[in-house]
Amino acid sequence: MSKTILCIGAGYVGGPTMAVIADNCPEYKVIVGDINAARIKGWQSATLPIYEPGLDAVVKRARGRNLFFTTDIIAGIKEADIIFVSVHTPTKTFGRGAGRAADLQFWEKTARDIVEHAESDKIVVEKSTLPVRTAEAMHRILQSNTKGLNFEVISNPEFMAEGTAIDDLQHPDRVLVGAMSTPSGQEALADVVDIYKHWVPEAKIKTTNVWSSELSKLVSNAMLAQRVSSVNSISALCEKTDANILEVSASMGLDSRIGPKFLSAGVGFGGSCFKKDILNLVYLCEYYGLPEVAAYWEQVIKINDYQQRRFVENIANQMFNTVAGKKIAVFGFAFKADTGDTRESPAIYICRMLLDEHAKLAIHDPQALPYAATDLADCSAAEISYETDPYQAAAGAHAIVVLTDWQEFRQLDYRRIFDLMDKPAFIFDGRNLLEHQKLFDLGFNVFPIGQKALSHFEKTSA
Ligand code: UDX
Ligand code: UDX
Repeated sequence: MSKTILCIGAGYVGGPTMAVIADNCPEYKVIVGDINAARIKGWQSATLPIYEPGLDAVVKRARGRNLFFTTDIIAGIKEADIIFVSVHTPTKTFGRGAGRAADLQFWEKTARDIVEHAESDKIVVEKSTLPVRTAEAMHRILQSNTKGLNFEVISNPEFMAEGTAIDDLQHPDRVLVGAMSTPSGQEALADVVDIYKHWVPEAKIKTTNVWSSELSKLVSNAMLAQRVSSVNSISALCEKTDANILEVSASMGLDSRIGPKFLSAGVGFGGSCFKKDILNLVYLCEYYGLPEVAAYWEQVIKINDYQQRRFVENIANQMFNTVAGKKIAVFGFAFKADTGDTRESPAIYICRMLLDEHAKLAIHDPQALPYAATDLADCSAAEISYETDPYQAAAGAHAIVVLTDWQEFRQLDYRRIFDLMDKPAFIFDGRNLLEHQKLFDLGFNVFPIGQKALSHFEKTSA
């Protein structure tokens, strides 16, 4: 094989990204290393550790041929020419910048492992999302080696989204590669670009300076999250004015300057990236003495929290001001459809608020139930059941609360569900996913986001 690539971190980003690289570059040996032995075992088995449509087929094609999973990161460091680092960078929970800044301890530890075990020059690629100017610190740590080795740090952020990871990786809008302007930096940049040239058209491979690349990733996520918060803020106004958020979003999206994507109102954004990256951006702005800019971006998170609170308050208000002792069926716990990932899922916060109101929850999700149980492990087990069967979840419930946009929720037999439920039966559709008029005609009281409620009570009182 002509080159060896190592990726440290076999998570949602490292695993799928390396599988697609191995699939497209059969002459490269691709090793994916992780300190988590259970995760590596999963990657080596028939049941992969993450659910991602299309991932199984890609891994099966390449695994054992030029794609290998290991816990022996040291051996991988020695062997590799190019090392991608895709360890997580959570929000700091302690000390300076707690609750905002990125915790870079795993990244730094990885850089030190590379310095300690490398026996030849390496290109180190930042795949994790990092604060702008992290590459500089990493370069200093790496160059502190006394073995006379040269290390180049390249920024190559990943833009794929969970649930569509394979398609996003195979057909990216762009691949961003940032490098230092030194001759050796530019050589390393060319080596990383070469990998992507195997399947990505050259026009879509964008090279920049390393700081622009690092910052572009943070800002791309912040801009996407900002659209969600913007549309969610307007959904609140729609509910007060009888405007319809679906019509408003569709009308806005027809303006080619705005575009139609990322304008779906709902219970707010989740996922491992948006909140963490915005907090990081806010911290960076404060650090660089830009409090107005920091406050501007922080508002995106405040609106996200508000949208979730607002949703729960509406549930309680509509259900005669109390959910205490009432069974509520929660449809969907993952942070979006087509993933089992629940990190920062709005469902975590909404379920906790409902439990605080003493509701009893029956949670159903096609992929995320094991993670849901972990996320709510500290809550009273007597008040929560986890149901693989949606009809079982709905049986005896006063309300259904839709929190994830799984398309299969649209296909359920809602006549059967209505018959199974306590009356009056409520549906709070936090993703504007279901067919509201049909549900209303079946007898449900339907409360969407940013649209007029369809309530049988209003009708009788009119
Ligand atoms: C990624 C990016 O790396 C992160 O910066 C981005 O913002 C979100 O996506 P992700 O792949 O989703 O993270 O994280 P995770 O699934 O937690 O995977 C990280 C992996 O790194 C874990 O499997 C963990 O065991 C591994 N790890 C962590 C190491 O192998 N070594 C360490 O020192 C720390
Ligand atoms: C995001 C970015 O899209 C991706 O480019 C980056 O690499 C990682 O972070 P991800 O978090 O996996 O990807 O999913 P995404 O599709 O962006 O959804 C994030 C959240 O926003 C989800 O909770 C989703 O339900 C929500 N969302 C998205 C909305 O509420 N409305 C929308 O219109 C779009």
